[in-house]
Amino acid sequence: MTSGGDAPGMNAAIRAVTRAAVGSGFRVLGFQRGYDGILEEQYQELDARSVSNIVQRGGTILKTARSSEFLRTRGLVKAAAVLNKTGVDALVVIGGDGTFRGAMDLAGFWKGRIIGVPGTIDNDLAGTDFTIGFDTAVNTAVEAIDKIRDTAAAHERFFLVEVMGRRCGQIALEVGIAGGAEEILIPENPEDIRRIARRLCAGRDGGKSSSIIVVAEGVKGGALEAARQLKRLTRNEYRVAILGYIQRGGNPTAADRCLATRLGVRAVEALLQGETGKMAGEVGGRGVLAPFHVAVKGKRQVDRLYPRLMKFLNL
Ligand code: F6P
Repeated sequence: MTSGGDAPGMNAAIRAVTRAAVGSGFRVLGFQRGYDGILEEQYQELDARSVSNIVQRGGTILKTARSSEFLRTRGLVKAAAVLNKTGVDALVVIGGDGTFRGAMDLAGFWKGRIIGVPGTIDNDLAGTDFTIGFDTAVNTAVEAIDKIRDTAAAHERFFLVEVMGRRCGQIALEVGIAGGAEEILIPENPEDIRRIARRLCAGRDGGKSSSIIVVAEGVKGGALEAARQLKRLTRNEYRVAILGYIQRGGNPTAADRCLATRLGVRAVEALLQGETGKMAGEVGGRGVLAPFHVAVKGKRQVDRLYPRLMKFLNL
């Protein structure tokens, strides 16, 4: 099943899990709309052919949801009963933080094995360098910034571009670097807005006629509040572009398709090895299994390289 926010590459993961499982002798059921599909007994049998022609498609053929009923003990007891009745002995959950928290809760009521596959654009999980969908989301946002930059240059304007990522600044960092932003605002590394304003003024006084400032949605007040404050401090006009859901859609990049395929197959291998309660991830190019409770702790630190790069890049 896929659960939580959709991420490009989820279909490639469904395909990999299905084919690896069928090839290993399992019967495969695809539950629809995340944990709600278990509660409502909505599933379809998946075989090698039913996952044809999806490796390139965004969204998820199984659909997804954030289940509120699953947050209650009653929901968990019911889900365990449905899984037992349906004869499910192992569950592969593709999603992010909320999905793995749900899996941990379910494990208190159900004896089957559960393995996770990290599918979220946010790249906010510990235990894997990258989550499925992150690369595509970054590329989508960079493409949008390239376009916004044309307008910024033509009108000699300052733009704030808000990107997704929940409480995490990973998308903003990569998008800011790849999009050539003057400033990147992330929740992990809050900076005094007056310092940012001073740098923007210095750039303007030094001949910069336009600037792009990337803001992670997790920054307090987001791009709109940052624009309000910067306008007051710099006496410039700012335009705000909130990129929103375009970052979740579209065909996955080749990198996301390959990551999804590797992790999907590894998830099935982990089940065959008797593993449970873990997420299949990749660290430093090597496959690893991280316990769910470790994965959901999240990426705490920002690579120190980024602030160092920015010191030079926004000159
Ligand atoms: O987790 C993916 C994500 O797109 C976040 O970046 C964002 O904060 C959130 O989901 C939005 O959630 P929803 O789809 O419920 O609006």
